[in-house]
Amino acid sequence: MSIPNTFRLPFETEPSMEENEYEKAHLAIIFDRYKDRLTTFPKEKGWISETLYMYHGFWHLSGGVYSIETMMALQESFKAHPTDIYLVTLPKSGTTWMKALMFALVNRTRYKNNCRLTHPLLIFNPHKCLPFIEPEIYRKTPTYVDAHQPRLFATHIPYTLLPQSILDSGCRLVYMCRNPKDVLVSLFHFTNKLRDKSRGIMTFEEAFEMFSNGVMPYGPHWDHVKGYYNANLEHPTRILFLTYENMEKDTMNNVKRLAEFLGCPFTKKEEAEGAVEEIVKICSFKNLKEVNKHGNLRDDVPNHTFFRKGKVGDWSNHLTTEMSYILDQIVKEKFEGLDISF
Ligand code: A3P
Repeated sequence: MSIPNTFRLPFETEPSMEENEYEKAHLAIIFDRYKDRLTTFPKEKGWISETLYMYHGFWHLSGGVYSIETMMALQESFKAHPTDIYLVTLPKSGTTWMKALMFALVNRTRYKNNCRLTHPLLIFNPHKCLPFIEPEIYRKTPTYVDAHQPRLFATHIPYTLLPQSILDSGCRLVYMCRNPKDVLVSLFHFTNKLRDKSRGIMTFEEAFEMFSNGVMPYGPHWDHVKGYYNANLEHPTRILFLTYENMEKDTMNNVKRLAEFLGCPFTKKEEAEGAVEEIVKICSFKNLKEVNKHGNLRDDVPNHTFFRKGKVGDWSNHLTTEMSYILDQIVKEKFEGLDISF
């Protein structure tokens, strides 16, 4: 795989003031375009946002960059390239970790032995290094120059709602899911860090109730997972299906597997020189948490909110036996016949 030296990275192209104005205006046009349709969708109280809207079986945010409106705009005009690679997750399933790993793997030769270039993951939030697709729909200047391949993007969009061009282009998708109980706990903490103080603190009972009813951004959890699980069965060479738990248990082998899937397998020489360990280390929870202690990703979202505990099984410190039983029953029923375990 060749990576042109001229390619731009999202953090190298912070929009100018003029671009910012253009983008704000374009985003407003998108919101306006779909506002009447929005009134016809079922609604529920949201987690961080006031409201979630149900569209084609999934709950969506509205009125922001990651919203039902930008998703519909993407569906209408986003153009995927066959060489693109998309990371897909539900929120709080390890998106930030996977963004770091995919970015570090694909760009590893660029930063290796180059003392003039500090590795971006030692300075920036992984979200700056591997962008979500939504802003592409209203950006004045696309994130990547044409010659750059592969373009790496992320999204939370459910499989059945992906822009058709992603499905038709034959590009690759990496899907990572996580034990729903840990997703619930992680989302609960994230919500209380970020939601407007005027809405008060969310209780864990409230979070559990919403989650077990399937109400979370891009949820129900199980339907999102099932969509990509089945797609992986249908297109095993195009979709890589990973779990956070397995990634944590055997990081080295999974990172090697990921590199192969991304088209940049480790050479024997690299392995012997410890290149896999290096990538695992730079993307480790410990390193990323340290780098992201300060600063904001955007507006009022501090970098540190993406790094809490980074553990498997923290749910046992939050769920009662009864809550755990209820979620187990739901998940058992929803995943019946599927070989998914966390
Ligand atoms: P916890 O809240 O359980 O700690 P997302 O990136 O999808 O928003 O997911 C956030 C979750 O991933 C948080 O889980 C966060 O701590 C964890 N996380 C972030 N970086 C990680 C890393 N490098 N390794 C493992 N887990 C990580």
